[in-house]
Amino acid sequence: MNNRPKQSSWRGGLKIIIGIIAKTITAVWLIVGLNIGGSAHEEYSDKATKLLSVADAKLALGRKLFTDMNLSADSSVSCATCHDPEYSYTSSQAIPAGAGGHIGSRRPPSLLDIASKPALFWDGRMHGLERQALYPMIALNEMGNSIQAVEAYVSSNPEYQRLFEQINGTKKVSIVDISHAIAAFERSIVSEKSAFERYYLDGDNLAISQSASRGWQLFQTKAGCIQCHIYSLKNQYFTDHEYHNTAVGRQDDKKDLGRFYSTINIDDRGKFRTASLREVGGRKPYMHDGSIQTLRAVVEHYNNINIKETNHKTPILRELNLSSEEVEDLVAFLGTI
Ligand code: HEC
Ligand code: HEC
Repeated sequence: MNNRPKQSSWRGGLKIIIGIIAKTITAVWLIVGLNIGGSAHEEYSDKATKLLSVADAKLALGRKLFTDMNLSADSSVSCATCHDPEYSYTSSQAIPAGAGGHIGSRRPPSLLDIASKPALFWDGRMHGLERQALYPMIALNEMGNSIQAVEAYVSSNPEYQRLFEQINGTKKVSIVDISHAIAAFERSIVSEKSAFERYYLDGDNLAISQSASRGWQLFQTKAGCIQCHIYSLKNQYFTDHEYHNTAVGRQDDKKDLGRFYSTINIDDRGKFRTASLREVGGRKPYMHDGSIQTLRAVVEHYNNINIKETNHKTPILRELNLSSEEVEDLVAFLGTI
């Protein structure tokens, strides 16, 4: 019995010593562990910051090239002259003039969601944003310049040298680097969430008017628009990415043959790529030649189309017989997407 208190105090002392050792080990482990964790985290975030800053620099560089008028022969136009960021990346003019006042025959397509397009241009004859970026530089009715001149200008400009060095680690700049930087910027051009999407995807019934909501019903049923301007959870661009003749354009000798230039198939004459309708309300005039001034006129065009004339090429089109209220509802709907 006498030993007990002694024993218990001995055991108690051992417990305390073991406790101190254990706590010390834990503390050391925690400190070292946290430190290791900390430094790994710092290293990771350093890397991430670096990657982010390279991505930012790439976008800044692409944007600078996209808006730089010195890429054109007479320093009068940039890509943004015809693909204006303030105008859904198309132009407020139907067919804007290029360098030296030269004018083409087609309207610049909006570059919104450009990365989603399987083929480029109204006739789909161009592929690849990197490759495409070189064409406006040399096209007579766009920038009228030469590849050599663009490369010489960009590679001798100190600000461009600094940005390219940040991205590629070298001040040397080739035309390939230039086209890649422009394409990287273009891939960042995406449409924003629309009122229609808040209505349709988020279930916000007040996001669009009742007239617009009737228009959405008509778009899918009586008016048949959705057959070509497809909209689904997988494809939110209101286009089937196909080519159709919708009786748009001049009927004279200078008629644009559209898809024919890409396929050399006679049946493809007068077919054009189904335009995406994202932000369509804010970027008139419409169609490949900018020949239709307002959304109401577009809907009336579909309502009055001469079916006999176009139907052998585009059997999807039919007589719509839309009333003026229905036209109004469709216009209201188009304004929300
Ligand atoms: C003078 C006006 C003009 C300028 C300047 C211009 N473009 Fe365009 N762009 C057009 C037109 C017109 C088309 C349609 C061509 C066609 O369908 O044949 C087009 C088409 C495109 C397309 C394909 C879009 C699609 O939906 O298929 C891209 C991408 C593009 N341009 C990028 C650029 C870039 C990058 C620059 C500057 C290096 C530039 N453009 C300068 C008028 C212009
Ligand atoms: C047969 C397929 C087809 C059907 C059906 C169709 N469209 Fe189109 N839509 C097109 C094509 C192709 C274009 C481009 C035509 C051109 O530029 O010459 C276009 C262009 C448009 C444009 C102009 C977009 C722009 O950026 O210039 C609007 C707006 C439009 N359609 C709305 C409608 C509405 C509303 C309906 C239903 C009443 C409809 N479409 C039915 C194929 C179709």
